[in-house]
Amino acid sequence: MSQSKHPEIKTPLPGPKAQAILERDKAVLSTSYVRPYPFVPARGEGVWLEDVDGNRFLDLMAGIAVNTTGYAHPRVLEAVSEQAARFQHLCFSDFSSEPQVSLAERLNKLSGGGFRVYFGNSGTEAVEAAIKVVRYHTHRPYILAFTGAFHGRTLGSLALTSSNSKYRKGFAPLLPGVVHVPYPHPYRPPFGASPDEVGQVILDYVKHLFRTKLPPEEVGAIFFEPIQGEGGYIVPPKGFFNELSELARRYGILMVADEVQAGSGRTGRFLASEYDGLDPDIVLLAKGMGSGYPISAILFKEELSSWPPGAHGTTFGGNPVAAAASMATLDLLEEGLMANAASVGARLMDGFRSLQAEFPRLGDVRGRGLMIGLDFVKDPQTREEDAELRDEVARRAFEKGLLTLPAGPSTLRLSPPLIISEAEADLALELMGEVFKSF
Ligand SMILES: Cc1ncc(COP(=O)(O)O)c(C=O)c1O
Repeated sequence: MSQSKHPEIKTPLPGPKAQAILERDKAVLSTSYVRPYPFVPARGEGVWLEDVDGNRFLDLMAGIAVNTTGYAHPRVLEAVSEQAARFQHLCFSDFSSEPQVSLAERLNKLSGGGFRVYFGNSGTEAVEAAIKVVRYHTHRPYILAFTGAFHGRTLGSLALTSSNSKYRKGFAPLLPGVVHVPYPHPYRPPFGASPDEVGQVILDYVKHLFRTKLPPEEVGAIFFEPIQGEGGYIVPPKGFFNELSELARRYGILMVADEVQAGSGRTGRFLASEYDGLDPDIVLLAKGMGSGYPISAILFKEELSSWPPGAHGTTFGGNPVAAAASMATLDLLEEGLMANAASVGARLMDGFRSLQAEFPRLGDVRGRGLMIGLDFVKDPQTREEDAELRDEVARRAFEKGLLTLPAGPSTLRLSPPLIISEAEADLALELMGEVFKSF
């Protein structure tokens, strides 16, 4: 596929081949799969994806913030094929090997050092492992998390997830002892707070809980997303997590930074927690760390590593081919992709803020680096969420050859591959501008 400079839509969407696959999909696949719009990929190159009917799309979602290096990056392909030719699997839970040890050393260094590393295959596995580390180390029964959070959908992580009750419906009882507090959302502050006071109001609420029903000495950990992902790409007020960490330390509560979506360079730094100088006890990575190869990692402080051999493990976790893809990804991040995420991300945010003037129902533009949320409202004064408008924007963007994804009640998330160029970002802005004008 040529490195085209423009999306190209040649058929009605979905085209005939996509339609045929979607019909077969509907007949055989689990009804739990979501299909926000009918896109069926055939191949990709750079930030461009071609569907099975030969239509070409500019990818602004990277398979939910996963394809850090885009499609078919030669350095990732080389690393993967080299490792696959050596050996593809030997169960890292039982047998050590060099690719994963190198990756653990590298992740440790990139995250500030002092950690031990456990590998899984997915974000939810990282969360499950973290819950077990917390339980084993603290013996405490409670965990604090945030409403709007997404930490996964297996039964342990699901107890922490609260971005949408549909994820939980029908699956109770979940892991006991999880208490949620509202996330400090500056655009839609809870408890009637103003954007400036929202952080303090939530901190006061946590203290109130500690006084009235939740003994802080029995809370093992606070799980948090440094920028909330699935909840709507929400950036918390500066300093909020520093103060929460200080409060947690007072009671020996561990801080677990779920960087599954925001980490791996997406915000312009390796960890989104770095922006506030946070020093979490446990860091969770997945999604973007492997450029599409399934791998996750939990990094936990040396002093938390008291569990014995066999206490936790998995057959596939830390697969060497995925580890090689991850090493190549980290090389590319350090060689310039993190810097690119910061600069192209700022360019996109500025562009969308200019478009807001012409389309005020784009109520909020927020994010960091290439983690950008566009929040749609019925009225910019009331800020009432407009899910229908958001979905229609996504649909019209798709018709124009742009791939985006919904998040939260009324947000469209943009999380393109970190290789996106300024010209490609400008093209995305131009096309989204046309979408907004069409209303
Ligand atoms: C912050 C966060 N944590 C955990 C997960 C779960 O990851 P996975 O879907 O790989 O299980 C996600 C997925 O969206 C996420 O965004």
